[in-house]
Amino acid sequence: MIIALNNKSNLTKEEFIEYQKQLSSIQALSSKIILCPTSTYLALYNLNNIELGAQNVSKDEIGAHTGEIAATQLASLNVKYCIVGHSERRQELKESSEDTNKKIKNLFSKNITPILCVGETKEEKELGKTTSLIKEQLMIAIKDLSEDEKNNIVIAYEPIWSIGTGLIPTIKDIEEVLSLIKEILPNAKCLYGGSANDQNIDYLKTSNLIDGYLLGGLSLKPEKLQIFIEKAEN
Ligand code: PGA
Repeated sequence: MIIALNNKSNLTKEEFIEYQKQLSSIQALSSKIILCPTSTYLALYNLNNIELGAQNVSKDEIGAHTGEIAATQLASLNVKYCIVGHSERRQELKESSEDTNKKIKNLFSKNITPILCVGETKEEKELGKTTSLIKEQLMIAIKDLSEDEKNNIVIAYEPIWSIGTGLIPTIKDIEEVLSLIKEILPNAKCLYGGSANDQNIDYLKTSNLIDGYLLGGLSLKPEKLQIFIEKAEN
């Protein structure tokens, strides 16, 4: 199982150092845990039990792009995974699916595994547009990838209405989307993200289609995270 921790723009430097100390005692039996800290803390990473991921990458390569971080630079910091197309970036920064396609190609060219986020708004869900929208997000993002790249990409289904709200979809709804993703990308690992926590993991893990989780809020609570991992692996 993959458990990716999305810290978003949280923690000061001192808090991150303390947080990382707490994470160093996190134990997992079979799961791969991936920490995606705020980018300024990537260089402070010093964990043996957890791999390093980033929250974003530039769609351009190294060069004159103020404020951006190129895939080459992430690779030089030992980043092995990178979140792409998170809904907060799609909504707040107008990141398009075409951008995600460029970012994914840049990442693969530096041997970094992309974790592509897809998901619908509440309104889109109510209009019955979930599967068509996710198919569109996915098809544009994976355009012109090699078979090998398609086999190795990680997809995180994150309904926007469930992120940080405490609401989660039914297993039936999650599986409808994950089945669609697995039809298009039979070998890709599929994560669920959106208010997953140590309470609802017992319900979420009843699905055989979920290969792991992308955790926002829970990533910042190491004690609860340990409980989550134990329940998820059990
Ligand atoms: P959440 O965030 O777990 O706090 O809902 C998940 C995410 O945005 O990746």
